Amino acid sequence: AKTADCFTYDVIIIGTGIAGLSTALSLDKRLRVALISKNALTESSTYKAQGGMAVAAGSDDSAARHAADTLRVGKGLCVQENVEHLTREAMAALQFLQAAGTDFCCDGQGLQLTREGGHSRNRVAHYHDYTGRHIAEALMNQAADCPQMDFFNNAFLVDLLTDAQGTCCGCLIQTEQAVLQLRASAVVVAAGGYSGIFARSTNAATASGDGIAAAYRAGAVIADMEFVQFHPTAVILPSGKVFLLSEALRGEGAVLRNTSGERFMPRYHEDGELAPRDEVSRAMLAEMKRQQAPVIYLDARALPSGQLTEHFRSIYGELAAHGYCLERDVIPVQPTAHYTIGGIKTDAWGQTSIPSLYSCGESAATGVHGANRLASNSLLEGVVFGRRVAACINDNCHLPPGKPDLSGTGLPVYHRGIDTDLLRARLDQAAGVIRQGEKLARLAEWLYSCRETGEQVWQQADCCRENAALVAELLLEAAFVRQESRGGHYRADFPATNDSRFKKHSEQLWGRKVR
Ligand code: SIN
Repeated sequence: AKTADCFTYDVIIIGTGIAGLSTALSLDKRLRVALISKNALTESSTYKAQGGMAVAAGSDDSAARHAADTLRVGKGLCVQENVEHLTREAMAALQFLQAAGTDFCCDGQGLQLTREGGHSRNRVAHYHDYTGRHIAEALMNQAADCPQMDFFNNAFLVDLLTDAQGTCCGCLIQTEQAVLQLRASAVVVAAGGYSGIFARSTNAATASGDGIAAAYRAGAVIADMEFVQFHPTAVILPSGKVFLLSEALRGEGAVLRNTSGERFMPRYHEDGELAPRDEVSRAMLAEMKRQQAPVIYLDARALPSGQLTEHFRSIYGELAAHGYCLERDVIPVQPTAHYTIGGIKTDAWGQTSIPSLYSCGESAATGVHGANRLASNSLLEGVVFGRRVAACINDNCHLPPGKPDLSGTGLPVYHRGIDTDLLRARLDQAAGVIRQGEKLARLAEWLYSCRETGEQVWQQADCCRENAALVAELLLEAAFVRQESRGGHYRADFPATNDSRFKKHSEQLWGRKVR
């Protein structure tokens, strides 16, 4: 293979969002750690997270109630054991973040807890409306002070490496200067999700599922790829930029209106604007279709002005910069790809089906979100499972890494001719909020027709294009096979939930059909 230098570490972490950094900061300080990030911190989904982190901290709340809400919204597909870990360890996760220098907004009672869809209590701890940015900066500052950690910035994961026994022993990365071979006794994929493969996404286009694609090529089991969460309230700014309007706005009383100015959500769901996101998104599309209108409007005009400028200061400022005033205007919004539930299948300790390969955060499929993620459970998942991965590695990471079997490196298949912008636009059409078997199949056929055999791709742009195409194939195949509707997967041709056939997770493995 085309590798230059080789470096050896105890642990490699791919991704420096909340999951990767929580893992890194929880590892034994004697372990030497390589942290790989492909983009600037500001591009990460953690940095962009507005709403906050769910934690049952209110006097009327409990971890059991938080778990019950998570299970209800997950529509029968949550892994209960992992949901219990998530909700029971939430307070410790919050304290971990506080100890790392993160503040959360407080009022006279303690933590100021806001509400989001699907929660039966106010339990979203936040730092104004830029919680993710505040957390990302605090964790990164801490990590930067750790002498045992080496940062490979603007470095891109080309592929994971396994030894002759199939154990993960490192990865190939492309830096600005060279391809490097990194070896380690444990490798953690915390590289985020794949919402960026949709044309309309609250994520950066760089969220192309790179870690998931690499794990799939290395032989890991991938699960739940069909489940994509569309956030109901993103505004497409005149520049074309997609900007999220946090669900916390609805939690604090903002409502959705159709083009006639009618508040329509109570006609669709008893929880109105705070119904689970899949239900709000579908209601919005139904209303848009009924009225032949391209958008729905978010109306936050009834919220106190001081709350808009204080709690929602970053949203307020961004909208003002584009000529909207939250106190005066209703804001046009549309459902937009936001969070991907599928990923690398893991157990409660982040262990994947490949020995020594771990995953956490949005790259992982822990089963905590079932078919639909409860709002503000994702920052929490990143910390809880990042810490669990670190605990497992601290206990097990004592053998030197094996020697990579480079004969297996290099894919048999690439989608060389693919136009990623076209793929994104087609995915929005075929695999958006409302899907249909025929359209899913047609798009998958197009992707198959773009497959070619050839040599390994190395450059970031080529790898990202390939990963986006591969992850799109996985999504389309899983969505085609799931002939029912559940959470973040709605089939117009199979609108009912079918527990007798589909109350199970989809799994995909290289060379084997979807199960
Ligand atoms: C939001 O602030 O609406 C996003 C929070 C989340 O996706 O959990």
